[in-house]
Amino acid sequence: MNKNNILLLLFLFVISSNAQQISIIPQPVKLELTQGKFSFDDKIQILIEPGDEMKSLSDLLVATIKNLTGLTIPVITKISSKDLNNKIQFEINKELENPEGYTLSIKPGLIKISAKNCAGIFYGLQSLFQMIDQNTSDRKISLPCVNIQDYPRFKWRGVHLDVCRHFFPVEFVKKYIDMLSMYKINTFHWHLTDDQGWRIEIKKHPKLTEISAWRTEEDGKVYGGFYTQDQIRDVVQYAKKHYITIVPEIEMPGHAVAVLSAYPELSCTGGPFKVETHWGVFEDVFCAGNEKTFDFLQDVLSEVIDLFPSELIHIGGDEVPKIKWKACEKCQARIKSENLKNENELQSYFIQRIEKFLNAKGKKIIGWDEILEGGLAPNASVMSWRGIDGGIAAAKQKHFVVMTPGTHCYFDHYQALNNEPKAIGGYTSLEKVYSYEPVPETLNPEEANYILGAQANMWTEYILTTDHVEYMLMPRMIALSEVVWSPKEIRNLDNFLKRLNVHYNFLASKNINFRIPSPLPDDSELLLTANKELNLNNPVPNSKIIYTLDGSEPTISSKDYSSPVNLTGSGFIKAKTILSNGKMSSTSSLAVSIIDTTKNGLNFKFYEGVWNRLPNFDSLSVKRSGKIFRLKLAEIKPNVESFAVAIDGYINIVNDGNYTFYISSDDGSKMMIGDNIIDNDGAHGIKEINGQFNLKAGMYPIKILYFNKWGSSSLRLEYEGPAVSRRIIPASLLFNSK
Ligand code: ACM
Ligand code: ZN
Repeated sequence: MNKNNILLLLFLFVISSNAQQISIIPQPVKLELTQGKFSFDDKIQILIEPGDEMKSLSDLLVATIKNLTGLTIPVITKISSKDLNNKIQFEINKELENPEGYTLSIKPGLIKISAKNCAGIFYGLQSLFQMIDQNTSDRKISLPCVNIQDYPRFKWRGVHLDVCRHFFPVEFVKKYIDMLSMYKINTFHWHLTDDQGWRIEIKKHPKLTEISAWRTEEDGKVYGGFYTQDQIRDVVQYAKKHYITIVPEIEMPGHAVAVLSAYPELSCTGGPFKVETHWGVFEDVFCAGNEKTFDFLQDVLSEVIDLFPSELIHIGGDEVPKIKWKACEKCQARIKSENLKNENELQSYFIQRIEKFLNAKGKKIIGWDEILEGGLAPNASVMSWRGIDGGIAAAKQKHFVVMTPGTHCYFDHYQALNNEPKAIGGYTSLEKVYSYEPVPETLNPEEANYILGAQANMWTEYILTTDHVEYMLMPRMIALSEVVWSPKEIRNLDNFLKRLNVHYNFLASKNINFRIPSPLPDDSELLLTANKELNLNNPVPNSKIIYTLDGSEPTISSKDYSSPVNLTGSGFIKAKTILSNGKMSSTSSLAVSIIDTTKNGLNFKFYEGVWNRLPNFDSLSVKRSGKIFRLKLAEIKPNVESFAVAIDGYINIVNDGNYTFYISSDDGSKMMIGDNIIDNDGAHGIKEINGQFNLKAGMYPIKILYFNKWGSSSLRLEYEGPAVSRRIIPASLLFNSK
């Protein structure tokens, strides 16, 4: 074979492997690629079993195919002969075990989705839709043949939405349900009441929607809204068609300021109150000593359970300050008459009373993990949000648990370290979400059975628009979907990220906003050695990267990245990803330092111990030592909670002039440049101080001392000076010898 033929073959291989995309998320339990293809043409028919539910499932497929190819595929319920050629068959197979499982078999001439229930057919269809998206070109669909057997790992695959801090219209709630169901999420936790707004019409208490649903912002503008009962019924029906259960949340006894604004008699003090315009936790809560509180909540819950078929009703229970109860005669009288020990037990009394009411109506309660305090209500399930300890405690007490720890499941946190829209705090990257394991190691197998699954929470204090909700949801929810669906053994981050890349176009085709991955690593500084080029990562197919090296913001007229960038010196790179539809990511910027690994770098020594101030380093024994190029604790890899480090070397001051050095640390630190000292010692949280020095150009000894006493650790050093705006000290200026 000559070289051209080999190239041609390679080319065809690439083309054909591109045309054989199977990037299903969540990853199916078993997926086997077989021989051949199934091509959609005008001979295809959809064969279903009789019934409305089957019909509406087949309508979803008909619409998708029509939209992509223009073909209108007929739906039939009977075939005259046994000829199953050119069919897409939906079949109920009661032999299958899992109520949500399915099998999807694609052979030349026949696609068959089998499931125990229609829910499984729906999930089989979601897998099929993803394959169709990945295998359509020029309005033609040609699918690779496969055998898939699939079922979920967890029963509760949840995503939450706070519509109180910011309100989102019914159309968006439906789109949210669409997005959830595309990735086989089956539970939508609808957070309907909070201090800043009440969002559900309650016929018996109209002031909830006349007053509690609206807040007057500081600028005088009125903000708010609510869903009518008709709208809620409509959304519940819509969710049902997407095999999603809506779990409504009615917050009690805290997060109730909006209610109290309309009904101040339900508080301990009598008010008056205004619907809150600030975020946080507020001291005014429902009075637990007042019978009217329970009458009111029972009225509300009676209407709620008429609207929502869910067996579980979320009653909140989180963040309840006890200060007003302590000072309230009625609450104190209740503590006495019920023989309660304290206000924690009063909270438990409150929740148990509500539980009894709901249990009598055939419903069960779920609440945030604070409902463990003062004693768990007998049949309650627990949502573990303040870490996983609440979940562990509840499972050990044989109560069902949904895991939603802030560390991995709070989608109001930042997705990256740089250039993200303002968020509430935290840092929950896509990779971190993907790494989540819902079953804590400390549970034995029997206790582990109480873990129903996991859920992502979307609190909206800093999320004002539907576009922004989508941005915070995607692609992190896609990572979560695999955590809650796929077997633990087959989860693999690299493989997931490869499959995810194929999904960005799928999201764009559905007009879903998402965080476009940055072409730069999520880091503080990138190190390159001389002659090494800078490679950027372009994860999204058919997208391009634009970049600048002069510190300016990349625009359409900036350079396109097509091959590795040759840097002539240390500096900054700023870059954006642009999708084929023109949509741009936010700008990522990164300091790039060109270093000589034989000369650059600082020496460090690592010590273990617990101190309240910087120790006397000379008297300590060194646990480890080595060299770091970047002034980052992560480079030193601390492997114990309480430790100290001493870092030394030389810094090259390039120009004469006044310099300011900033050292920020948790706990204490100290830095020395030549004879100049900045002292940030002591056991403290993140604290920054600075020092200003006049320095002549030249090499100066530099020393940084640091210790951490328990808990979180951090150390950051920045400087500014002549012709240098404030930044971390570049690795190219740090040396381990003169
Ligand atoms: C919560 O995040 N307050 C449950
Ligand atoms: Zn009270």
